Amino acid sequence: MNRVFFAGSGSEANDTNIRMVRRYWDIMGQPEKRIIIARKNGYHGSTIGGGSLGGMSGIHKHGGLLSGIVHIGQPDWWSEGGDHTPEAFGLARAQELEAMIKQLGVENVAAFIGEPVQGAGGVIVPPATYWPEIQRICDKYGILLIADEVITGFGRTGNWFGSETFGIRPHIMTIAKGLSSGYQPIGGSIVHDSVAEVLASDEFNHGYTYSGHPVAAAVALENLRIIQEDGLIEHVRNVAHPYLKERWDALTDHPMVGEAKLVGLMGSIALTPNKATRAKFASEAGTVGYRTRERCFANDLIMRHVGDRMIISPPLVITPAEIDILIERAKKSLDESYASLKADGLFVAA
Ligand SMILES: Cc1ncc(COP(=O)(O)O)c(C=O)c1O
Repeated sequence: MNRVFFAGSGSEANDTNIRMVRRYWDIMGQPEKRIIIARKNGYHGSTIGGGSLGGMSGIHKHGGLLSGIVHIGQPDWWSEGGDHTPEAFGLARAQELEAMIKQLGVENVAAFIGEPVQGAGGVIVPPATYWPEIQRICDKYGILLIADEVITGFGRTGNWFGSETFGIRPHIMTIAKGLSSGYQPIGGSIVHDSVAEVLASDEFNHGYTYSGHPVAAAVALENLRIIQEDGLIEHVRNVAHPYLKERWDALTDHPMVGEAKLVGLMGSIALTPNKATRAKFASEAGTVGYRTRERCFANDLIMRHVGDRMIISPPLVITPAEIDILIERAKKSLDESYASLKADGLFVAA
């Protein structure tokens, strides 16, 4: 993957991807291959292209949905897995891709896009069976695979890219955020040679004024130098992740925490009134999460909520001593939230 088409953000890069995969199939003599298959509750940005690739109904409601993009189910075992084991559920959700390709006709399908780990959707870590099956299906039908690495790229999962962590072989990777550690706005699409060579063989009428802007590019290069020379990815993989994992998993001892997930340094916990049944709360989705987030913020902990799931993404340089502080504040916040939910009669299953 030697070529990058730069953009100013992750959203723009995903818009580039829509145009790129369709142009690829045009040049390949199959212009009818235009449909991109994405996932419900995926997040790919807020432009019309990124918002349409994403599977968030709240975003679709505000501004509409591009044609030629369809959504299959997400691999969220905790919320949607029913009586399946996580492994069986992961396979079943991946096989929705095959069913969708057959339904649409492979001659009409250009690509599949997914985040290695859904970030904005709640740090949903797919079962181990999911990505290998997605890869098998993309290979079998010869459709392009886009890994949206905007969150998972540049060390977040303990490797340079989430695709390495999950054994994904993408044709295109969307990048942004960690490319400059957020210090300058820059994003892009890293393109596999097999696709880049086809695109370069003819005109591609596409470009942004700020693609590869020299200031943003200089900052990104310096950022990459620091990540490399300070060994931040090794720090995540060998120090921060293992230490946080042990402490994060132990949060499931709390009466309100059903599951705890952590990949590298992106984590989530599912709040539930009944761990055994993975029950949802009776209150409107997000009520408990919001109240818990308010306690976190009051306790100087940046732990956001997505519905009734709490998510963290601490800096890659976090030390074990700082992880202790994180966990201490998380426990305090959970305790306070639990006590207030009980007092208000809200610790009740739907
Ligand atoms: C996976 C993913 N893709 C795309 C985007 C959009 O990136 P940006 O906000 O830079 O447009 C985001 C932003 O959070 C993201 O998480």
